Amino acid sequence: MRTKVISVAMVILCVMMVNADVKPQKDFNLQKFAGTWYRVGLAYDSPGFIPFRDKVKASMGIITPMSSGNVNLTMWELTPFGCITKMYKYNKTNVPGQFAYFSTRHNMVKDITVVNTNYTDYALVLKHKVFHREYTQVALYARSPRPPRNEVIQKFKTFALSQGFPRESILTPPAAENCPPSGSTR
Ligand SMILES: *[C@@H]1O[C@H](CO)[C@@H](O)[C@H](O)[C@H]1NC(C)=O
Ligand SMILES: *[C@@H]1O[C@H](CO)[C@@H](O)[C@H](O)[C@H]1NC(C)=O
Ligand SMILES: *[C@@H]1O[C@H](CO)[C@@H](O)[C@H](O)[C@H]1NC(C)=O
Repeated sequence: MRTKVISVAMVILCVMMVNADVKPQKDFNLQKFAGTWYRVGLAYDSPGFIPFRDKVKASMGIITPMSSGNVNLTMWELTPFGCITKMYKYNKTNVPGQFAYFSTRHNMVKDITVVNTNYTDYALVLKHKVFHREYTQVALYARSPRPPRNEVIQKFKTFALSQGFPRESILTPPAAENCPPSGSTR
């Protein structure tokens, strides 16, 4: 019974998501996008995520553009086992602002779209489960670990809700303390 209710809800969610037409930031500029970002907002559509919502911290990442137009991303995540470093490789696609990567966790190619950024302050990023379909995550990145201005948070929440994310899946976590450990990134 419970499974049935969940699957009906998922079907509705997927239909809403597939219909949404999301375009990347106009005239996306990878060089201006490079550098340090903090993931200060997160919306995740997996019900398994909700019990962990209070443990999530704002991770730091560094975007390094390659001459090929691909991107390396280094992220520092605070886990129960300490602060761990993760490396990701995002391949460019023929749409500027959209990248493809292979998720080792889910064993499939996903795509990532930089939906909106002003480069100096914030970036709204959408991660898809399957290329062009089934959004699984919306993230809000900021150049500083401090909570962003209210209108930026509102923009993030409105966008996540418009993509069908339930309100309780939308978080603005506090900064991770000493992750990366101070001094370790230079
Ligand atoms: C990008 O990442 C790859 C593998 O993760 C690494 O070998 C390479 O040195 C990195 N390049 C830069 C410029 O960081
Ligand atoms: C990224 O590009 C490399 C070669 O440049 C390729 O081997 C790899 O499969 C690509 N990954 C994705 C997810 O497209
Ligand atoms: C980005 O947004 C912030 C806050 O609204 C503003 O101060 C800054 O000038 C903007 N940057 C650009 C390049 O528009």
